[in-house]
Amino acid sequence: MLSIMTSSYTGSLRNYSVNDCSKHTLRAARPTSSGINSPLLLVVALMAFALTGPYCVGQSVVLSVDVSKAGAKIDRNIFGQFAEHLGHGVYEGIWVGAASKIPNTRGIRNDVVAALKAIKVPNVRWPGGCFADEYHWRNGIGSSRVVTLNPNWGGVIDPNTFGTHEFMDFIDQIGSEAYVSVNIGSGTPKEAADWLEYMTTAQPTTLEKERAANGHPAPYEVANLGLGNESWDCGGNMTPDYYLSQMKIYSRFVRNFNPAQQEKQQMLKIAVGPGGGEPRWTEWTEAIMKAFQQHTWSWDVNGLSMHNYTVVHGWPPSYASVGFGETEYAQVLKSTLDMDSLIARHSAIMDKYDPAKKVALIVDEWGGWYAPLPGSNPGFLVQQNSQRDAVLAALNLNIFARHADRVRGANIAQMINVLQALILTDKEKMVLTPTYYVYKMYLPFQDATFVPVTFDAGWYTHGDVALPRVDAIAAKDTNGKLWLAITNLDPNQPVEIEASLAGITAKSATGETITAPKVDSVNTFDAPNTVVPKAISAKAQGGKLVLKLEPKSVTVVSVEQ
Ligand code: AHR
Repeated sequence: MLSIMTSSYTGSLRNYSVNDCSKHTLRAARPTSSGINSPLLLVVALMAFALTGPYCVGQSVVLSVDVSKAGAKIDRNIFGQFAEHLGHGVYEGIWVGAASKIPNTRGIRNDVVAALKAIKVPNVRWPGGCFADEYHWRNGIGSSRVVTLNPNWGGVIDPNTFGTHEFMDFIDQIGSEAYVSVNIGSGTPKEAADWLEYMTTAQPTTLEKERAANGHPAPYEVANLGLGNESWDCGGNMTPDYYLSQMKIYSRFVRNFNPAQQEKQQMLKIAVGPGGGEPRWTEWTEAIMKAFQQHTWSWDVNGLSMHNYTVVHGWPPSYASVGFGETEYAQVLKSTLDMDSLIARHSAIMDKYDPAKKVALIVDEWGGWYAPLPGSNPGFLVQQNSQRDAVLAALNLNIFARHADRVRGANIAQMINVLQALILTDKEKMVLTPTYYVYKMYLPFQDATFVPVTFDAGWYTHGDVALPRVDAIAAKDTNGKLWLAITNLDPNQPVEIEASLAGITAKSATGETITAPKVDSVNTFDAPNTVVPKAISAKAQGGKLVLKLEPKSVTVVSVEQ
């Protein structure tokens, strides 16, 4: 750092490139001067720089927040999770069985439940993914389970010991809601209709009695229903027209009978939507939304799903999840920011056919997808989770919040042990990842009201990658308190944030920040606290909050008035 600074010194501090080094650190040594003309002053300045910390501080970024300008509600469902029968996502990650030595409640591990309760998971999507279109629910109920194969994911055996009742028990234990995806690819409308009747009816039908005999007399609530998964690919390679003809049948006949969900809390039906930025996805969204515009009383959808993974250089994912450097850090973050334009593109199509925004865009699979960890089963999609993923998660959550009027749900892939997981387990051990901590820090944004923030982000550049140096969102929580979430993407330079808040008199701010020694720092079972949040606070100065944020950090603070 010092050498960059020295080499770029041109005789006047005003001539420093703010991209390289900061006026801020040097301010102490040069309160008023327009330049350093004496070698002695230069030495003093450099010493002051060296003493102020390990970094040179970048140019301040001014955030302007007008609290009177409230936007859309940030639906808590953007913090949804995804648990597929894939690798150790369900088996071992959630389900260990009642006979396990791992502390559990009715077979569901207690450590995982406690961790998930702490982040108030709004909904969990299950049983897939691609797995959903090969799942037959009857295999997973009753005292004698049918043992099947999981051809999508490693060809391993699925004992079906985790089925409907176990999933609903898990949902209940963590205080969440069920997002159940039904099998359109290899199932039938009757199979799916029967499953919903089995889960939700309160009437004394044969299926209701079977559910009661299996231990649950009361009907279950199903908040969200996925009508297939990636039906354009692993869900059956359907054309938009073929999918539409199928989906309408499922929408018509797969009913939720729960008396508590007839007027209020009606189940949302989510159709398969786009899977990326290519023209075929534009055509897909056009077809579904055009059909929605013309829909009759006999079918309906409330949501359109979107899948978008962060994969650099195409499939199969080749970037490592740990043991990488700044180049991979910058490239992955650049790629993840494409989420914004993708949402904008599909939202624009949706606006055309649904200007009232009745249909939500549900980004129900997203996250960083990297190469499988060496030595792991490649079908299990095992990867580590680093500080890069914490930054990636924050950037995507910010994007969803900015599109809160249309994006009313999102499910990171996946919750435990698979892809960008929040939790990793190994037998009795459990570790929380940097991504988990971001979800914890973002809790106040659940159902908060978006407040627009304007700022000139500046640039962080590395090689041929240029990224906004900072990103920020603001929101008022359900108690009216203002929260700011600010990400410093720059892995080398801290940033000073000057937040000017119109509409309130801010006195201070307190919250948490998460950063790490390196861009690829991770938490492991042996060192679980390498990347954890720490407290941060700031006082108002001249009506502005001044926050100093570390490199590659995510920060969430509440503003005290
Ligand atoms: O999340 C892993 C897989 O990615 C899902 O099963 C599928 O829907 C997607 O292609």
